[in-house]
Amino acid sequence: MLKRRELAAFRKQLLAWFRQFQRDLPWRRTRDPYCVWLSEIMLQQTRVAAVIPYYEHFLERFPNLHALAAAPEEEVLRLWSGLGYYSRARNLQKAAQQIVAEHGGEFPARLEDVLALPGIGNYTARAILSIAFEKKHAVLDGNVARVLARLGAIRGDLRASQQWQKLQKSADAYLDGKSPGDWNQAMMELGATLCAPRSPQCLLCPVAQFCEARKRSIVDLLPEKRQKRATVEIHLAAAVFADEQDRTLLLPPPKERNAEPLVDHVPTLASNLWHFPTIPVDGDPLAKLRSHLRKLEIQKQNGVFHFVPANKVRHTVTYRAITVQPFRISVKKLPRLKGAERVPLQEVTILPVSNLTQKVARAALAAAPSAEKNCEPIAEKLEKADSSVCPE
Ligand code: ADE
Repeated sequence: MLKRRELAAFRKQLLAWFRQFQRDLPWRRTRDPYCVWLSEIMLQQTRVAAVIPYYEHFLERFPNLHALAAAPEEEVLRLWSGLGYYSRARNLQKAAQQIVAEHGGEFPARLEDVLALPGIGNYTARAILSIAFEKKHAVLDGNVARVLARLGAIRGDLRASQQWQKLQKSADAYLDGKSPGDWNQAMMELGATLCAPRSPQCLLCPVAQFCEARKRSIVDLLPEKRQKRATVEIHLAAAVFADEQDRTLLLPPPKERNAEPLVDHVPTLASNLWHFPTIPVDGDPLAKLRSHLRKLEIQKQNGVFHFVPANKVRHTVTYRAITVQPFRISVKKLPRLKGAERVPLQEVTILPVSNLTQKVARAALAAAPSAEKNCEPIAEKLEKADSSVCPE
């Protein structure tokens, strides 16, 4: 840890740098706790550039906590559609309703009250309270941890519980109590820009003189790699019906966690959102999908279906690598499917859907419509791809 005079210089230099060079981000133009909270939730696991348009659009529709609390959940999810990790949106709204019920609609300013809200952990609570209320709580996230690890030349797995506690103490000790909001954002900004995981720009760093890792020429080695969870490969097949007006069918979010076996297998696929009829596959995706549709009794209603395989879609959510084989199924009339909604294939986002569902819709739209008119090319394509027969 730095001595008193060094610490004062360190704080002064970092804050001056932040105040001069910080990125102009929309949530930095306000200290309104509702806006700060929204930005911090959206920024969890998500890049700044991806968040900006969602943040602005969300605030246009829900300019304050009361508007959010009173909205239909479906509309909140629709505005979140494409941003991922949808439990964030559901928790955000639940928390808004809790704040209306328990705090008269005013965002609470005490750490324990904020931590009692759904979707808010230690980092987020500290970020909101410091930025919106200038409370003296230091934040610790991946970016800040990397800065601290380099400053103190701290080795080992930073996420190990004892190490993380040590880092929180270190973050607390560095905190500038006169400007906790700017201080926390300065630490985050340094980690997000100059003190990046790869190729850190030490020559531009306003506090390089205090960096122990730099003194020891080990900046590039820190933080040390932690063991990564092994990737799980998931293979799915999706049925994209398309009628003559290019309308399709989406299934509703499952009511209960275990209501739909698919969601058990693949929690990230539907994320409790609207989705195409989809099934996990291990062998022939077409055969599996056909038998799934048969179980849903769709086949009986419409007789023969032509399945056109679209380009595969790949999607990664944390440690899951998902590959979806979409099949475009052209029909005169969309079949009946319990709870399903008809939506234009071009505009599946009129319902709350995941990024993955949007990708599947785009792939199905791009699947050659001329091939659907006549089965011969389809049969050839299927034979090459997986030797399935078409039509059934
Ligand atoms: N990441 C998390 N919080 C942030 C903030 N307030 N500004 C920029 N990036 C962030």
